[in-house]
Amino acid sequence: MEFKISDKMRNMKPSIIREILKQMSDPTLISFAGGNPAADSFPAEDIARFSDELLRQDPVAALQYSVSEGVPSVREAVRAFANRRERVAKENDGVLITSGSQQILDFAAKCLCNEGDVVAVENPAFLGAFNAFRSSGARLAGVPMEDDGVNLAALEAVFAAPEKPRFFYCIPNFQNPTGKTMSLAKRRAVYALAVRYGVPVLEDDPYGELRIAGEPVPSIKSMDTEGAVIYAGSFSKILCPGMRLAYCVCDKKLMAAFVVAKQCSDVHTNVWAQRVCEAMLTRTDMDAHIREIRKIYAAKAALMMEQLDEKCPQVRYTRPEGGMFIWGTLPEGADMPAFVRECLARKLALVPGNAFMVDEEAPCGSFRMNFSTPTPENIVKGVSVMAGVLAAQGL
Ligand SMILES: Cc1ncc(COP(=O)(O)O)c(C=O)c1O
Repeated sequence: MEFKISDKMRNMKPSIIREILKQMSDPTLISFAGGNPAADSFPAEDIARFSDELLRQDPVAALQYSVSEGVPSVREAVRAFANRRERVAKENDGVLITSGSQQILDFAAKCLCNEGDVVAVENPAFLGAFNAFRSSGARLAGVPMEDDGVNLAALEAVFAAPEKPRFFYCIPNFQNPTGKTMSLAKRRAVYALAVRYGVPVLEDDPYGELRIAGEPVPSIKSMDTEGAVIYAGSFSKILCPGMRLAYCVCDKKLMAAFVVAKQCSDVHTNVWAQRVCEAMLTRTDMDAHIREIRKIYAAKAALMMEQLDEKCPQVRYTRPEGGMFIWGTLPEGADMPAFVRECLARKLALVPGNAFMVDEEAPCGSFRMNFSTPTPENIVKGVSVMAGVLAAQGL
C-alpha cells in the first residue's frame, strides 16, 4: 500500500534525541543526551503499594472509563499540590489532568492556532514543543535567550508585529536545553507585555520542583490576574515519566476547548495512574520525596561542573540552579557538529545545540549535556571523552 502522509506531518522529522537514544542499546555508550530522571528517584515501592491496594479494594475506580477533565478528587489533590507554596490555580482557572505535559503543548497549538499562525518561542527551547506547535501548522518566531531569560526587546518586537503570535512559549525554570532561569524582573515584564499585547503565555514548568541552588522565583502564573497564562505542570520528573501524568492550569473558558481536544485525542488520562498519583499526593510526604530527588541531582550537577572545570576549561557552560541540563559552548570558531560527532564515535552522546533552535541550519557552537541520567562514574568518564576530543581537535 502507498500511504500518502498529510502535508502537516510529512515535513516533521523524528526527534533527534529519540534517534540518538536508539543507540542506547549499546551498553558501552555513555549518554549525556537524554533527559530521563535518575532511576533511583522513582518512588517504586509506594507506587506498587498504592497500586496493589487500589486494585484489590476498589478495582473499578482504577479500571473504568472516567471523565475527560480528570478524576474529580485527583483534580482537587493536584490543585492543592500546585497551590501549596504560591497561588498557581486561581478561582477562574480549571485544572485538567493530561497524559504528560507534552499533551498540553499539543492542545495549546491545536486549540489556539490556525494553519500558518505564528507562535513566539524562546530560542533555543524544548524541541518537543516546537514539533507539537509545527504539527498544528504553526510558524515559530524565535526570541533569543539571555542569561536571565528571554530578550525583552525582541519579545516585544514579535508581540507588536502585524502577525501577532497566538501565544508565547517559555520555560522559566531551569530551561531545557540551557538550564537557565528567568529572573523575577523578566517574569514580571513578560507578563506585563502579554497583557498589554493580548498574547497568552504558555508557561511550561516540568522542572520547577527540582531546584538545587538559589531561591525559588514566583511562577508567571502566580502573577496572573487576567487569565493570560496557561500553566503546564508535570509529574514526570517528580514521580516518574512512565505514568504520563501532568496538569494544565488555565482559564476555564480555554480549558473547555482543551477538554474537547482531549476527547478527540485519548478521551481521558489513565485512571489507574491518576489514582496512584492522588495517593502519592495525599498520603505521602511529597516534599520529602522531592528533597531526596534534589539531593541526587545537586550531587550529579556538582560533579559534572567540577569535571568540566578540571578537564574542559575551554568549554563555557551555564551553572543551572536546578533541572537536568547544562548548556556547553565551545571556543569561538570551533566546529560543534564535528565535536559532537567525534564524541559519539568515542561512545559519548551529546545533543548538538542547533537541534533546539528554531532555525536548525543556523551556525551554533553549543551543545546540551544531561546530568540526571548518567551514573557518577559515567559523568567522570564522559567528561574525559570530551576532553580527549577537544585535545584531538586542537581546541
Ligand atoms: C520543557 C519540557 N516540557 C515538557 C516536557 C514533556 O514532559 P512530559 O510529557 O513527560 O510531562 C519535557 C520533557 O522532557 C520538557 O523538557
